[in-house]
Amino acid sequence: MPLCADGQIAQPGDFLPLSVGGWSVVATRDKEGAVRVLRNACRHQNMPVVGTVPGTCESFRCRFHGWTYDLQGRFLAAPPPVAPVDPAPGANDLQSLPVRVLNGLVFFSVGPVSTGVFPLDPGQPYGGTIVTDIACNWKVCVEHLLVGQGAGEPEFAWFWPLMAVRRSGPVVLVEQVVPHTFLRTRLFSHVFGGALETQKLQAAVAKEACERLQLERAAGMPAQGNALLARFHKALDEAYSGSS
Ligand code: FES
Repeated sequence: MPLCADGQIAQPGDFLPLSVGGWSVVATRDKEGAVRVLRNACRHQNMPVVGTVPGTCESFRCRFHGWTYDLQGRFLAAPPPVAPVDPAPGANDLQSLPVRVLNGLVFFSVGPVSTGVFPLDPGQPYGGTIVTDIACNWKVCVEHLLVGQGAGEPEFAWFWPLMAVRRSGPVVLVEQVVPHTFLRTRLFSHVFGGALETQKLQAAVAKEACERLQLERAAGMPAQGNALLARFHKALDEAYSGSS
């Protein structure tokens, strides 16, 4: 699954907590410069080690009882009253998830590593990420990304289920949908080859359009659209029926 842009954790010690499909994870760059994705679940009592705000640190110290981990998730220390029962090396490390950095984006997996390769290389320098919180279901947000894509639109590709890439001249926009709750979705707009400012209006338009679409769906209005939208709904039907 896509997690973030590589540039969002550009320096050693940078970290970015995220919730993806109910999975609380933290992306970080360790002291050797490698990207890590750790489960944000303390090995003491399974509480989130870090909150929701990104930052930079030397190590992670759990907010609850002080267990400490290095940037690779390795257990370092705990106050004596809450010391781990099993002190064996590795027994108390944060779970480290498979991660791949491809084309300026960080992908992670909660299962075995996929052999698939993200086929689109932005080929342009990372310009930044716009984060937009939208009051809609994630499927409505994907619908918005897919409708209107046809002749005359910028070059467009969709990667089931949560990512779309559009190229317009030298600018490549990677749009990543992150489901949060039933009616809350976060849209990451990763910009390559252009200035962040130029894309802010588009993000605001997307928010307004998604929230309007959500009201239409709640009122029972069916989705109107193109072949891409039909493909999305077919894939959803298959996923929810367990046939794929
Ligand atoms: S839950 Fe993290 S130290 Fe207790």
